[in-house]
Amino acid sequence: MPISIVSQGRDLSTWVKALKEKKPDLDVRIYPDDHPRDEITFALAWNHPLGAFTQFPNLQCISSLGAGVDHVLKDPNIPEQVQISRIKDKNLTNDMADFCLAQVLNYMRDLHKYKTAEQTHTWKPLRYKNKAEITIGVMGVGALGSEVARRLSSNGFNVTGWANSAKQLESIKVYAGAEELDSFLETADILICLLPLTQETADILNKDTLGKLPKNAFVINVARGEHLIEQDLIDLIESGHLAGASLDVFREEPLPEKHPFWAHPSIKITPHIASVTNPASAVDQVLENYDRLQNSKPLINLVSRTKGY
Ligand code: GLV
Repeated sequence: MPISIVSQGRDLSTWVKALKEKKPDLDVRIYPDDHPRDEITFALAWNHPLGAFTQFPNLQCISSLGAGVDHVLKDPNIPEQVQISRIKDKNLTNDMADFCLAQVLNYMRDLHKYKTAEQTHTWKPLRYKNKAEITIGVMGVGALGSEVARRLSSNGFNVTGWANSAKQLESIKVYAGAEELDSFLETADILICLLPLTQETADILNKDTLGKLPKNAFVINVARGEHLIEQDLIDLIESGHLAGASLDVFREEPLPEKHPFWAHPSIKITPHIASVTNPASAVDQVLENYDRLQNSKPLINLVSRTKGY
């Protein structure tokens, strides 16, 4: 049974190589190459052209090429019966934890300020806070967020979490639901957003929520650009309420050349690289689902279409 990869703006060669190495006889087809769409029951997707899956009448599963599935779910044309799975991979969670730890240390030890000072040959030691003086709030404690929280906590930071519904994380206080959101925000000196993008979480980083963070708080967004109202962030930095932000994701990617974030001295940009799926390590779970589908067995790493994650 062939599989199809339906994607835009992503180099697929490493995926094709990983699939072929594990299953040399697998027939991998790259959309929109010409091939009979009715043969396809299993597809891999990343940022597919909306509506493309209507051409696949026998599709049964769409496997996201990453941890997020918002790019699949935003397409209203995907038939009810199509199951959607995502990548849950140890490397992906480790990379995210590494990245967040690096961002936190970079911010709290002012490394980016010394980089600027170096350019003007300025020797100016800055006072820094100890880890014990800082609380990091991780918004979203699913597969990625819980690992980030654990990593920061085991590095000596005070860490809290916030989740849509009650969650237990060993030795980390997790606030839950809308009624505990303010208490969570009020103590987060550094806020890390790792929420899934859903209708409920879109625009959740706005002037009201960010305004509840302690003065001089710092924001790290490694989830999706649509979580953040960009102008609200700029306004809160410029009014002196927030110290700055480190952003890896944007409403429009690539970030447009003229976007005000580029030149903002307190906003640090990375190009959506916090944690990128490594096909060689994620391919087994994709092929496992492919085999399960052929054998009518329940699939793994499925997402709830109603919850959106
Ligand atoms: C990256 O953004 C992913 O969803 O894996």
